[in-house]
Amino acid sequence: MTDAIETPGLDRGAPARPPLIDPFARAITYLRVSVTDRCDFRCVYCMSENMAFLPKADLLSLEELDRVCSAFVARGVRKLRLTGGEPLVRRGIMALFSSLSRHLDSGALDELTLTTNGSQLARYAAELKACGVKRVNVSIDTLDADKFRAITRWGDLGKVLSGVDAAQAAGLAIKINAVALKGVNDDEIPTLMEWAHGRGMDLTLIEVMPLGDVGEGRLDQYLPLSLVRARLSERYTLHDIDDRTGGPARYVRVAETGGRLGFITPLTHNFCESCNRVRLTCTGTLYMCLGQEDAADLRTPLRASEADDLLHTAIDEAVRRKPRGHDFVIDRRHNRPALPRHMSVTGG
Ligand code: 5AD
Ligand code: SF4
Repeated sequence: MTDAIETPGLDRGAPARPPLIDPFARAITYLRVSVTDRCDFRCVYCMSENMAFLPKADLLSLEELDRVCSAFVARGVRKLRLTGGEPLVRRGIMALFSSLSRHLDSGALDELTLTTNGSQLARYAAELKACGVKRVNVSIDTLDADKFRAITRWGDLGKVLSGVDAAQAAGLAIKINAVALKGVNDDEIPTLMEWAHGRGMDLTLIEVMPLGDVGEGRLDQYLPLSLVRARLSERYTLHDIDDRTGGPARYVRVAETGGRLGFITPLTHNFCESCNRVRLTCTGTLYMCLGQEDAADLRTPLRASEADDLLHTAIDEAVRRKPRGHDFVIDRRHNRPALPRHMSVTGG
């Protein structure tokens, strides 16, 4: 079992603080937290083979992560997603899930969830469920073991599929995320969808985003989902549905399978106007937008004082600077990272 996290900040006795509203009148109700930049995979669109990871001393401790998350919950954040890197490779991570679950118990938080590559799910599924996690996103781009190895460089599909089995056995709902990769998994999307829907799981397709240098040209990887959708509609009946889960995905119901299929299209479709989220890195940097460089340092105010006033002031200042949206482009002139940081830093 994991050690409990001390939460001296539990009863900080601070007066109720105002909710977080950005300059475009969007309420910030969703915080994504990258708890580590490390991962046991090296997906070709995400990382280079020889990644330089952050020194451990730069990382927020689990206690500090709890404190920042709790500060956001006090300001109206209703949904927390832990990501990475791979969140389940962070040592002691179950202690963080366990301590954050108090906000579910109190009713302050609606959802505590994670995005995972599934490699450690078999081990942690039951504990996650016990911490009040109801749904997990698992990233699987292909069901072909060799292709899986090629995409993830280090991954073992069998292990991930056992993780999916364990999560379902534990009663966790699962959404599969797949990045659409030209010439790699485009022909397999119907298979992935039939598999996911056949097991009662949603499938969300993601367009590759120009984040971080991964040692390959993005043009080679980029497959517009408008094309994927057009191809799918030749075989399936896709009905638009309005389930906007507060996120950027557009969903359709597939008549033949009865399942839900989501499309995340940062490049062909702008979804910024309804953005309700901010992202915290494992070093305590807050990004107000996945597609912009502007960021706020929360680690300094966090460490400067045991009380949370400085932290709240920094959060206020950051949210006041949240931009209207991103401006990703992948074209011939921009066949290089639009942003230097990797997805594993900001969180997927
Ligand atoms: N573009 C699109 N998706 C990405 N992911 C990681 N890097 C990228 C990228 N550059 C995906 C992962 C996972 C989710 C967290 O983000 O495959 O499904
Ligand atoms: Fe790891 Fe996810 Fe990045 Fe793949 S996409 S290397 S699983 S963090």
